[in-house]
Amino acid sequence: MRITMIGSGYVGLVSGACFADFGHDVTCVDLNEQKIAALKAGKIPIFEPGLEGLVADNARSGRLTFTTDLAPAVANSDVVFIAVGTPSRRGDGHADLSYVYAAAADIARAVKGFTVVVTKSTAPVGTGDEVERIIRETNPAADVVVVTNPEFLREGSAIEDFKRPDRIVVGLEDERARDVMTDVYRPLYLNQAPLMFTGRRTAELIKYAGNAFLAMKITFINEIADLCERTGANVQDVARGIGMDNRIGGKFLNAGPGYGGSCFPKDTLALVKTGQDFDTPLRLVETTIEVNDRRKRAMGRKVIAAMGGSVRGKTIGILGLTFKPNTDDMRDAPSIAIIQSLQDAGAKIRAYDPEGMEAAKTFLNGVDYASDAHDAASGADALVLITEWNAFRSLDLRRIAEAMVGNVFIDLRNVYRRKEVETAGLNYVSIGRPQGATDTAAQAAE
Ligand SMILES: NC(=O)c1ccc[n+]([C@@H]2O[C@H](COP(=O)([O-])OP(=O)(O)OC[C@H]3O[C@@H](n4cnc5c(N)ncnc54)[C@H](O)[C@@H]3O)[C@@H](O)[C@H]2O)c1
Repeated sequence: MRITMIGSGYVGLVSGACFADFGHDVTCVDLNEQKIAALKAGKIPIFEPGLEGLVADNARSGRLTFTTDLAPAVANSDVVFIAVGTPSRRGDGHADLSYVYAAAADIARAVKGFTVVVTKSTAPVGTGDEVERIIRETNPAADVVVVTNPEFLREGSAIEDFKRPDRIVVGLEDERARDVMTDVYRPLYLNQAPLMFTGRRTAELIKYAGNAFLAMKITFINEIADLCERTGANVQDVARGIGMDNRIGGKFLNAGPGYGGSCFPKDTLALVKTGQDFDTPLRLVETTIEVNDRRKRAMGRKVIAAMGGSVRGKTIGILGLTFKPNTDDMRDAPSIAIIQSLQDAGAKIRAYDPEGMEAAKTFLNGVDYASDAHDAASGADALVLITEWNAFRSLDLRRIAEAMVGNVFIDLRNVYRRKEVETAGLNYVSIGRPQGATDTAAQAAE
């Protein structure tokens, strides 16, 4: 199959490289000339484990090419994917579909012969209809079928997720697309990945409902964590105890500083807006957004409380800035609101992240960047672990304690055991595990 991927960001580049790896002939297009120049030179503009090798192998074999010139690529393709961004629209929180619609018009002008146009971007219910309308209006002679194929990969394990998906969802209204999409995903389909065909609108809603449900699950355990702190219960054991019920499942039950990232915040908000537009308020999702928003600054207050009520003039070391480990993505990372609230209270911030510091510079002002975890701890009155990178899981806590001028260690991901932190001479504060409590049953059993 000849495939064009419009948009070469986290989703477009990973999908394009994986499709090439399946044996398809893939052209990745992007408007961003620097990005394409870098890719042509073999440089990967984002951090995603395994991506560099995958791109290099497939570029070398000639199955994966990069261009800013959309028209010839589209004209030569059987399938054109739209994988451009759908951020929150400034002002009202609806999904900004301008990039999707611009890509649709560009496709319409360039397309030749029967072509399946696939919206892979996360876009609200009805977007497929609008993409089809734009294409038909721009080029009434175009022989296209418009399909929705939402992407479920997670940054940090994107290649594995793409190659071993829990399911592949394809929303279509015209049966001509069914065989084409089956061919596109044949290697996965043969590997038993369930290929689920639905209507286009249903596929669009599956993506949003899935993300909203996961965001609710995280937010639920975060509220339970707060209750644990007040009542002397231990959230990790509560999560384990409820997670062993198969109807609930143990995943996405790690209490923490609140969800962030490039998807959950914008997708939950867009779903709420869609609900309002269709006169169907989604109150659980609305509340989830509100609770999660408040939580991020509340984490700043938690740090301040752990330091005795004031951080003015104090230096706070931060471990981890990205919204989760194994990505350089800083979009809507909880670290941003936490750091800002500490800066507002007069603290000086000294931060380290293995991959996210370059991206962080566009989101944060006045941060002193460190060269590693020990350097971030150096001279700090308190150290706050925000993102659970592997590099932070086995810190030499005695060295850390020696480097610090204060002795407060705040673990917003419950990575450590209280005993080991306290043995190193640090005061330990974590999430949903009351002060002075013993290790969790899970940890004690290790
Ligand atoms: N990042 C994730 O983990 C993830 C997971 C699942 C779904 N999604 C969805 O996938 C979509 C893309 O997300 P992303 O994180 O890859 O975004 P991104 O911002 O990393 O990449 C989008 C790219 O599209 C390019 N672009 C925009 N308009 C273009 C046009 N007309 N022609 C060519 N290129 C164009 C941009 O320059 C950019 O490089 C979003 O809708 C997102 O919600 C993302």
